[in-house]
Amino acid sequence: MDKLLIQNAKIINATGIIEADILIEGSKIIRIEKHLYSDDLSVKTIDAKGKYVIPGGLDPHVHLDLPTPAGNSSDDFYTGSRAALAGGTTSIIDFVTPSKGESLIKALHDRKAVASASCIDYALHMGITWWDASLAREIEYCIKHEGITSFKTYLAYKGSIGISYDELFEVMKVVAKYNGLVTVHCEDGDKVLARQIELIKEAKTSPRYHAVSRPADFEAEAVEKVLKMALETNCKVYLVHISSALSIEIIKKYRNVTVFVETCPHYLLLNEDVYQSDDFSIAKFVMSPPLRGKKDNEILWQQLTENFIDTVATDHCPFNLKGQKDAGKNNFVRIPNGAGSIEYRNSLLFTYGVLTGKISLQQWVALTSFNAAEIFGLSQSKGSIEIGKDADIVIWNPEKEQEISISNQYQRCDSNIYEGFKLKGMAETVICKGNIVFDNNKLMTDTINGEFMFREIVK
Ligand code: URP
Ligand code: ZN
Repeated sequence: MDKLLIQNAKIINATGIIEADILIEGSKIIRIEKHLYSDDLSVKTIDAKGKYVIPGGLDPHVHLDLPTPAGNSSDDFYTGSRAALAGGTTSIIDFVTPSKGESLIKALHDRKAVASASCIDYALHMGITWWDASLAREIEYCIKHEGITSFKTYLAYKGSIGISYDELFEVMKVVAKYNGLVTVHCEDGDKVLARQIELIKEAKTSPRYHAVSRPADFEAEAVEKVLKMALETNCKVYLVHISSALSIEIIKKYRNVTVFVETCPHYLLLNEDVYQSDDFSIAKFVMSPPLRGKKDNEILWQQLTENFIDTVATDHCPFNLKGQKDAGKNNFVRIPNGAGSIEYRNSLLFTYGVLTGKISLQQWVALTSFNAAEIFGLSQSKGSIEIGKDADIVIWNPEKEQEISISNQYQRCDSNIYEGFKLKGMAETVICKGNIVFDNNKLMTDTINGEFMFREIVK
């Protein structure tokens, strides 16, 4: 089996920092010791002096090739996973989104066929987009036989994939019985729908009204109801893309609930000022929830500093302005929701979090890799640099700089919400299950294939 030796590594794990060498055999890390060397000429050696050596990123919330009425999200599993690699992310969790009435298991098998184009390992959250009692057996089957232990529900998107609070309560009761995890998109769907109808009636149709239709209190009210139900059903919950200070305040009241909190780079680094225009190009910032105020950015950063927020995921779901977002040129409700940052998450958090002193190197690794592996049952193989784990390793150059631009991105989209942002600190070499797949800005993914990550229940 091929061997790879990384020498002079400053290894940053969420649990500690050590200086050592790392020996990889095949797809696994087999030794971590000081002064490892090899006189076997077939062993490839990398000198990591002056760099950080970190576990490959795990992005627990992405939507590649997501079908919508405006076409599929513009990155498919191949292009999106390559962009992930270029940014130092070596595994992802995407979603199965069954149609109303469709069997979960059938939808899972269809989604796996699409996801097999991924260059990196992937797991799937199972979407619960409709409810009747027959789904209880399918949920049990997913957990016991399909390696799917987390179930995604949307309180937003009424009329398509959204479910009601009562339906969510039923889902929680079943998932709690098998010790699984329910992940929730918290925005009160009925209130959003009513506000959208009002705005359209008043001829307020441009993209800026997307934000007006989904204020922070619609998120916070949903958060509170979800946490009350979690308490009652004893169900563990994971709140996706929390965007506001108001929601954080609510979550802090529910100390007796097992609740994990996710935010995204855009809720830390961008704010609602972008909506102060009637230009259609601001449609690139149409995502749900929408961007909030600067104070919200500040409070969310503080929650990273204080380890209250568990993960920073991208919710990567880009759509082209031309040919996709422009479906809503005359009606913001028709703009497909979402934006992309799979390529930039680690670097944005390093540049604007680590280098500004808001988070430590260890917190950075916890937020981008370790915590998601623990929460979602992937820590046997992912999330840290340890003997026996997958050799998903990033050699991080803290000095390497770049300006984000659609002209040099691997992400596939005709716009970028971070256009012009400066980055300092980037992936230099990325090793995915023992293969060097990115080096000095070049991707080499021809010989690798991502595999489905079967998950076990986290005790
Ligand atoms: O706007 C977003 N977030 N689009 C992706 C789907 C979702 O709601 O997570
Ligand atoms: Zn999402």
